[in-house]
Order: sequence, then structure tokens, then C-alpha cells
Amino acid sequence: MKILFLNGPNLNLLGTREPDKYGNQTLKDIENFIKDEASKLNIEIEFYQSNIEGELVNKIQEAKDTYDGIVMNPAAYTHTSVAIRDAILAVCIPTVEIHLSNIHTREEFRKISLTAPACIGQITGFGANSYKLGLIAIADYLKSI
Ligand code: DQA
Repeated sequence: MKILFLNGPNLNLLGTREPDKYGNQTLKDIENFIKDEASKLNIEIEFYQSNIEGELVNKIQEAKDTYDGIVMNPAAYTHTSVAIRDAILAVCIPTVEIHLSNIHTREEFRKISLTAPACIGQITGFGANSYKLGLIAIADYLKSI
């Protein structure tokens, strides 16, 4: 099983970016944590981060025929990107949306996700564990279909 982890804008700054909201771990720390968890489950993963919407869309399009599932934290694009939503719908790859913070307890504009309706479900508010829960959720889903 091959899973793509997609990370949107400013997640490359994790570790120093608003640690009260997003924790102290860097994206590399989270990637290493998820690589360990994935190897226990015999799952192959790739981590990808971009600050550019079109690059995320390209990566989703390229994932067709290569990845069984996607776990994505679209970051700010969660709340704005019709293009990422449409890309997920176009490739028909089962996708789980994740967030470090609980977007439903924050500003009003963060409560709306344009991307979640294209996904199987959303995991939000568990810090770095949202990535692990996303991995378990996509793996269980793929085994069940
Ligand atoms: C985030 C939540 C988004 O609202 C925000 O723009 C992010 C990170 C999260 O993981 O909590 O960049 O996706």
C-alpha cells in the first residue's frame, strides 16, 4: 500500500510557527514519526510540502496510478481552494483531510473546509497525532474496499 502525505503552505515552518497552535515538532520530525508508524503497518509513504496551490494540484494529478490513498493537510488552502477539491474529485483517490489544530474551535473562516467534501473524512485537533490517525484511517478504509 502506498500513501501520499500532502502538506500545504507554511507547514514547512512547523516547529517555529505559532507553536501554541501547531506544536514544537518540525515537519521533518512528523515525517520521521509517520515513517516509523507506516513501516510497522507495512505501508510505503511519501511526504510532500508546497506553498504553491498549483504544485499541490500537480502532485495530486501525478498521484493517480501511483498511490492508493492520500492524507492531506491543505493548511490555508483548506478554506479557499476549489482547485485542490476538484483535483481530489478528478483523480478519485481516497483521501483523508487532517489538521494539527481543531479548525472548528478557531476563527469563523477556518470552520469552513472547501476540500473536506471531496474526502472520506476529516481528522482535526490532535496535533502531530492527526497525521498518525490519518494514516490509520486511510489504511483501514483501503483494506475495507
Ligand atoms: C491547519 C489549519 C489551517 O487553518 C491553517 O491555515 C494551517 C494549519 C492545521 O493543521 O491546523 O496552516 O491546517
